Amino acid sequence: MLQRSRLTPLTLVLVAGAAFGALAWRPAPSALVRIEEESPIHEHMETMNAAMRFFGKTGASAENRDKALEWIAKFQASVVACKVLTPETASKVEEAKRAEFVAGYRTMMVDVLATSCKLEKALMAGDYEAANKVAREELKALKDAGHEKYEGDEH
Ligand code: HEM
Repeated sequence: MLQRSRLTPLTLVLVAGAAFGALAWRPAPSALVRIEEESPIHEHMETMNAAMRFFGKTGASAENRDKALEWIAKFQASVVACKVLTPETASKVEEAKRAEFVAGYRTMMVDVLATSCKLEKALMAGDYEAANKVAREELKALKDAGHEKYEGDEH
């Protein structure tokens, strides 16, 4: 004898509903686990790096002057934000020497800011060669020296 199908309309609706629910489910934002969170200094340094890449690779020129001015403004905003923050490495310095260490970091960031103003002045004067040279040589040297002393081993 032919058996009646068990797939009644109600069953079909339930199965379809469950399938849709499974596909549409997304964890609520609070259920997501952040694997790693970068420090605020790190985030700003990434912006500075992007600006340095512009001057180092593309290079400022009469054709991209506005873009170059935009990049140097972003770079400076990040330096200003960074210089008042404390690098992670300060926590590993003995307490008696910590203030001096943080002051050294800040002083070097002020040097970076001053050097970026030199670059900006060259841009304003239309001396693109000089502007690119400041980035490729002077800012690069400050970057290397700053990382040597303050960045830490895990980078
Ligand atoms: C002048 C241009 C500079 C650029 C373009 C730059 C770029 C960067 C980049 C891309 C990182 C992330 C590195 C990584 O995790 O792979 C970083 C980290 C860092 N930089 Fe710089 N940097 C510059 C100058 C400096 C200076 C002068 C100092 C110190 C006075 C400094 C201190 C640090 C510190 C402490 C970190 C670690 C941040 C953290 O993860 O908590 N940087 N930098």
